[in-house]
Amino acid sequence: MSGSEIVYLDNAATTRLAPEVRDAMLPFLDSAFGNPSSMHSAGREARNAVDAARDRVAAALGCAHREVVFTSGGSEADNLALRGILERQRERGRHLVITAIEHDAVLKTAEALAERGIAEVTVVGCDARGCVDAAEVADAVRDDTLLVSVMLANNEVGTIQDVTAVAAGVRARNPRTLLHSDAVQGLGKLPIAVGTLGVDLMTVTAHKVYGPKGAGALFVRSGVALDPQITGGGHERNRRSGTENVAAIAGFGAAVDLVERERDAEMPRMARLTERLRSIVCSGIPDAVVTADGAPRLPSFATFAFPGLETEVLVTLLDQQGVCVSGGSACSSGAHMPSHVLVAMGLPPGLAGGALRCTLGRDTSDADVDRAGGAIVAAVRQLRSTGMPAAV
Ligand SMILES: Cc1ncc(COP(=O)(O)O)c(C=O)c1O
Repeated sequence: MSGSEIVYLDNAATTRLAPEVRDAMLPFLDSAFGNPSSMHSAGREARNAVDAARDRVAAALGCAHREVVFTSGGSEADNLALRGILERQRERGRHLVITAIEHDAVLKTAEALAERGIAEVTVVGCDARGCVDAAEVADAVRDDTLLVSVMLANNEVGTIQDVTAVAAGVRARNPRTLLHSDAVQGLGKLPIAVGTLGVDLMTVTAHKVYGPKGAGALFVRSGVALDPQITGGGHERNRRSGTENVAAIAGFGAAVDLVERERDAEMPRMARLTERLRSIVCSGIPDAVVTADGAPRLPSFATFAFPGLETEVLVTLLDQQGVCVSGGSACSSGAHMPSHVLVAMGLPPGLAGGALRCTLGRDTSDADVDRAGGAIVAAVRQLRSTGMPAAV
């Protein structure tokens, strides 16, 4: 992207559909419209597409075909993991361990389960860099702990958690406790073989990897029983009913293929570009704070906090200049609240209120980074010189 076009640096919120993904979807929006559950040839064509996509997702996750449950996205997969396990296995206990930096799809679900008396929730914190200590997670596990949920990579600052170490610690403490990981941000950027990570359940979604919105999956290890959250015709081996979104699922398969193929070349390129962006911003704004600095991080993330500035105002000004970035997560309510992740990291409110998240994608060029970096520096200087109201 260059010239008068926008520079899109909000790929952690969502990504542009890749042309090859679109091509893989189009037949199922057109002539190949059959229902995968129908026995005739039109149905079989759709079933074959769903099966092929399942194979592609299973290959990326290093799991069996039957262990992939297609859902409408990451939120539904997180809900299915938490609600499905807690509801199904309630005779064994109701203790659930999560971390303070989980996505709301996990946090709010845990809260809702606690309100209904289905879960008793322990929340494990993180350090100033946004890292969760595996030993602390293991310490939180009890004899009646049904499930632990620790995300693979954070959506606000990009920190990567050592899920393999968490799995080992949890298992040593209680071999019956199950481990779920939300790998929505990790897919396509990190190796996510479920065997290496040691997880029993794992969430992924299509629209963060150049696939369509409205398709995701939950890996459910063979033998792990959960209650379906959508009941009906018994689709997805009785774990998620509803006629499959065939076009989106076909797109998901193509998208997973694409990012897995490009990962080894793309990640070093992104690391170089985010380093370039950090250096432009930090040399132009000497008091800029690089959040989660020094932590293991996704190479696509460059995150900052500007003392005394307000995220909303900064993001709006940058948008007017054709640069799309965000404060932290893409919040559906649009409410301006201090990020729970930055708060958990211990950032003072005056700093957390001026957070900026730039997340790069496969379309991002050197020129985009230079333009965005220049725009961020100019915007921060302008807001400071015009006497911006300070964040609370
Ligand atoms: C870490 C994480 N988990 C879950 C979700 C929700 O995924 P979806 O938008 O597919 O429901 C997101 C999306 O922002 C995310 O970043």
